[in-house]
Amino acid sequence: MSDAPPLFLAIHGAVGRLGAAVLELALASPACSVVGATVSARSDLLDCPVEPEGAVSFGKALEPAAMPAGTVVLELSRVEALPAHAQQAAAQGWPLVVGVTGLDSASEAALTAAAKQIPVLRAPNFSLGVALLKRLAQVAAKALGPEFDGAILDVHHRHKLDAPSGTARALAEALQGAGRTVPIVSQRVGGVIGDHTLTFAGPGERFELRHQAEDRTLFARGALAAASFLQGQAPGTYTMDDVLTSRGGQATAL
Ligand SMILES: NC(=O)c1ccc[n+]([C@@H]2O[C@H](COP(=O)([O-])OP(=O)(O)OC[C@H]3O[C@@H](n4cnc5c(N)ncnc54)[C@H](OP(=O)(O)O)[C@@H]3O)[C@@H](O)[C@H]2O)c1
Repeated sequence: MSDAPPLFLAIHGAVGRLGAAVLELALASPACSVVGATVSARSDLLDCPVEPEGAVSFGKALEPAAMPAGTVVLELSRVEALPAHAQQAAAQGWPLVVGVTGLDSASEAALTAAAKQIPVLRAPNFSLGVALLKRLAQVAAKALGPEFDGAILDVHHRHKLDAPSGTARALAEALQGAGRTVPIVSQRVGGVIGDHTLTFAGPGERFELRHQAEDRTLFARGALAAASFLQGQAPGTYTMDDVLTSRGGQATAL
């Protein structure tokens, strides 16, 4: 038996594409206990039990009285809802994992303020493979000279609201940190879960780093790994790179 403390979770956006995948995995995991789940005010599932005969129901908001100490909140709903959710988490002392992408200035400000009081993990992509991709991208950017042109291709399903993707932006920022400005091209087509390709093309050769999400459970597994990591951390801002490091990945570029 594991000695790890139980992981109490509350999920905003619990019946969306991502939220439902996380909820399903959390309910199936003996290490997790779902103590809160929100849906939009217009949802048909409002006030319905999360599990048959379960004590937790889908609500419009999280009820502090129902959250045991140490509950980690996952923000998987919509960017418009994020500032209020971040303010509540900070006021209640709930660690906050943010999976929502396309953050606006109000969301950025709310997360910056919240991180002074609680640990906030910002994950535009919950994949540990994408966290590794960012590290490898920085290595490639430093190793390949200016005669190599860089470009990021971001391909997602037709329902995705933001473009470029949060992952593509984060990859571009990582490359900026390595001294390279790289343009992003986005495609929104069909049912593609999420593909990111970084190309460097130079004289006589082309080099590509590519990550393809093949199944939405990838994000659900990463979201639970992020929540588990964030439990008990000090206030501040964290990323999936910290989760990668905590699982044995090196903290610095390879
Ligand atoms: N970090 C990652 O790895 C990752 C992976 C995939 C997606 N994402 C991001 O995660 C977010 C959600 O994506 P998705 O594909 O799951 O979208 P989605 O299917 O539209 O899910 C969002 C859910 O949130 C609900 N919602 C809206 N306002 C709410 C509120 N105030 N409180 C609680 N729930 C509310 C929506 O309900 P209504 O439909 O009734 O509005 C919907 O059920 C997006 O920003 C997306 O880009 C991140």
